[in-house]
Amino acid sequence: MNALTFPILRLLADGKFHSGEEIARHFSVSRTTVWNALQHAEQMDIEVFSVQGRGYKLPQPVTLLDEQSILNTLDKYGASLHLEVHDHLASTNSYLMQNISVAKHATCVAANLQTSGRGRRGRSWHAGLGASLTFSLLWRFQCGASALSGLSLATGVALIRSLHELGITGSQLKWPNDVLINQQKLAGILIELQGDMEGPSTAVIGMGINLNLPDSLKQQIDQPVTDLASAINSEINPNQLLGTLLKHLTDVLAVFEQGGFAALREEWSQHHAYHEQTVRMLMPDGREIHGIVQDVAEDGSLLITTADGLQRFMSGEISLRGL
Ligand code: BTN
Repeated sequence: MNALTFPILRLLADGKFHSGEEIARHFSVSRTTVWNALQHAEQMDIEVFSVQGRGYKLPQPVTLLDEQSILNTLDKYGASLHLEVHDHLASTNSYLMQNISVAKHATCVAANLQTSGRGRRGRSWHAGLGASLTFSLLWRFQCGASALSGLSLATGVALIRSLHELGITGSQLKWPNDVLINQQKLAGILIELQGDMEGPSTAVIGMGINLNLPDSLKQQIDQPVTDLASAINSEINPNQLLGTLLKHLTDVLAVFEQGGFAALREEWSQHHAYHEQTVRMLMPDGREIHGIVQDVAEDGSLLITTADGLQRFMSGEISLRGL
């Protein structure tokens, strides 16, 4: 990205018009340089209105992430976390995976704009400036990767607790770890692991939460989708949301380290959108298995009563659908 693009976007974050002349003066550059920098923004799908005689503006005000505001929400939890806020990154998960051997335990990397986000099962995760909260948390475990099978479900519990703390009700989990409101996807979790089966191991826990998706972004997403702006009537501050999530993640990960997913299983089940409902499981080979959700097991697998009896489904490449 052009080095001036993001500084100009910070200026435009108030959602008001700023003339090319004013911006140029602010950064001691020419108006052509300003224009070029904002062309780069458009190339990255950031909509900037340009009106002759008035200048440039974003479609609406945007609250950008900043470390101090996140730390204010984190309070005493801040001391045990390492926070990095980036203007833009291809993917916060990829960034931490690339730095996995050097990054400190409990490093959180957040990006104001994630340009090549990755989802589960090889999908893309679409995000935009002010449209989504995207971050990843690196966590080191003494246990091996084999003991972390329920980790992604455990982090879903932290997400639900955070939404509740912020007064956002009606959110549900969909196995293994989507968060839904009104049966539409609000947030997703991608966990990547490195380490030996016997331990120690490192997890990169990535979360994407839709804040205020413009129609252009919604159209790129091939499943029913929602955002916090539609689900609640007031604005949610992404700094407060991230701080709240990190507090609950810290608590949930401590419980998980002590007792595994078993210690969180009941709470997870209480929020499962498909608990005791008939579902279809889409298998990687194209088969569909129908059954009734019984429960979730202590290793995070889903237990379903099918025509062939009780079957256990591990996450990974399997996709759950309602009937
Ligand atoms: C899914 O539902 O498929 C998981 C989506 C996970 C998206 C987040 S956004 C932050 C982090 N960085 C990524 O590239 N992906 C995760």
